[in-house]
Amino acid sequence: MQAPDLPATPYDEVPYPSGLFPQTHPNRLATAAYLRGMSPAPIDRCRVLELGCGSANNLVSMAFQHPGSEFVGVDLGQVPIASGEAIIAELKMHNVTLKAMDICDLNPDEFGTFDFIIAHGVYSWVPQRVRERILEISRELLNQQGIAYISYNAYPGCHFRDLVRHMMCFHTQKFEGVDEKATQARALIKFVAESRIKPDYYTEAFRSQLARLEKYQAESLYHDDLSPSAQPFYFHEFIEAAERHDLKYVGEAVQDASDQALFTDETLRRMAELEAADEIVREQYKDFLCGTGFHQTLLCRKETQLSATFPDERIPELFAECDSVAMSDPKQAGAAPVEFKSPRGGKVEITHPVWRTGLSYICSQWPCSVSFEQILNHVKQTEPGKSVEGGSGNEAATIASALKQSYLAGVVSLRIRPPDVMNRVSERPAISPLAQAQLRLGTSISTQLHRSMKLPDAASKHFLSLLDGTRDLDALTAEMIAFITSARAETEGERPAEDAGIEAGVKERVKNNLVSLMRSGMLVA
Ligand SMILES: C[S@@+](CC[C@H](N)C(=O)[O-])C[C@H]1O[C@@H](n2cnc3c(N)ncnc32)[C@H](O)[C@@H]1O
Repeated sequence: MQAPDLPATPYDEVPYPSGLFPQTHPNRLATAAYLRGMSPAPIDRCRVLELGCGSANNLVSMAFQHPGSEFVGVDLGQVPIASGEAIIAELKMHNVTLKAMDICDLNPDEFGTFDFIIAHGVYSWVPQRVRERILEISRELLNQQGIAYISYNAYPGCHFRDLVRHMMCFHTQKFEGVDEKATQARALIKFVAESRIKPDYYTEAFRSQLARLEKYQAESLYHDDLSPSAQPFYFHEFIEAAERHDLKYVGEAVQDASDQALFTDETLRRMAELEAADEIVREQYKDFLCGTGFHQTLLCRKETQLSATFPDERIPELFAECDSVAMSDPKQAGAAPVEFKSPRGGKVEITHPVWRTGLSYICSQWPCSVSFEQILNHVKQTEPGKSVEGGSGNEAATIASALKQSYLAGVVSLRIRPPDVMNRVSERPAISPLAQAQLRLGTSISTQLHRSMKLPDAASKHFLSLLDGTRDLDALTAEMIAFITSARAETEGERPAEDAGIEAGVKERVKNNLVSLMRSGMLVA
């Protein structure tokens, strides 16, 4: 849906890199709501609104996974909306509607009400009147058991970001073009970071900001840091604004995994004392301690009932997943702990026989999620009779309690619905029709876990395009050999002699790539 009278915006002139945000997925939002005692709408029959959706990559990918739900996205930029509409047309989807329009003009009568409202990367980058409207919509258009997700830059962490942002804005005024502005912005911060013979507190701040800026795409840096409006808020300020609109705090979309090992015993003791304090006060002090710079806050209507304590009884109704790897076999571990390593570098050691067997089973099923019953059955078969040490002999209670602690510590994720994904490589592997269409259109690729898949080169793209469920390992190997040979012929100008050893090497690479794609959640049944 186009609105022809909208003026071009900076996002029309410089497209914002489109991303996927797993933390905004209805599965995550519904799980967080459920664990606060709410009764969220079923995610396969719900209505989702995304404000400032850009090219709607996030929304389209969710809509594709949930054909029985309805998705609406609005954005001021006509170019990003048109690019989202191209993929909707390619996939012949009927459950997602995009409209180029100002959030301020959004009329409840036109769109109805929603179970989930998402505003990711918008609130801090728009004028005050738009911010107020985002909160107003989050109230007016939200169903009674609905959840609104709003992310924003936060203080105190963003004081450091502001320090370099203001200088970069001043310095880049005189340069033209996104790439030149980004290059000049980074160069200034590098110059200051490396200016002292002996680094001090000032240059240390620049160094850490430089590390952040170096990872940033030029277009994101241009819109996020060089934008004249990039307003951070203290958590309590945001909550006060939300409360003025009769909204209430539910929690954060990303389960807090703040590393306890960073803090002194005294700090941990003082933080534990705060557990009894008001939730908003506690979260604010946590931000002071951790230097939080970004929030992904979940809100509901003020009158919606939330449980005051964690609803333990709901844990067995959820599905668990964990991408860590057990570093030893629990069956062989004896009394020794089993170490679990996450791909992000985190480690946990578990000694309890029931839970180390349970967690090892959950990890072994990645990227699939497993039900409580599956975990329990596995533990009972593997560890007969080894129940709670000195306890009631009740494996179910042990697993429920360990799942809760691991979820709160950010080790295990819980979901209200298991994702549609494979945890083995089938004889003729396939990626989803959505990923196939994204490949054809050259947009970013979505995994079944609602994450973006990076394809480093033409060979990776070609390999992915072959995964349509028609080729076995030999056929995939033959196609990749043909691709490599023709690519070499192109660069070397002539057809190289047949390499007898190439087949075994390529077959091995194909096998490894399939396992790595499977673990990324790219493969479907
Ligand atoms: C930083 S981008 C974020 C895009 C997307 N949500 C993401 O995180 O990738 C901000 C988006 O908000 C949109 N936007 C800004 N002001 C708006 C308004 N008043 N009404 C609708 N969209 C707006 C912009 O066009 C842009 O696409």
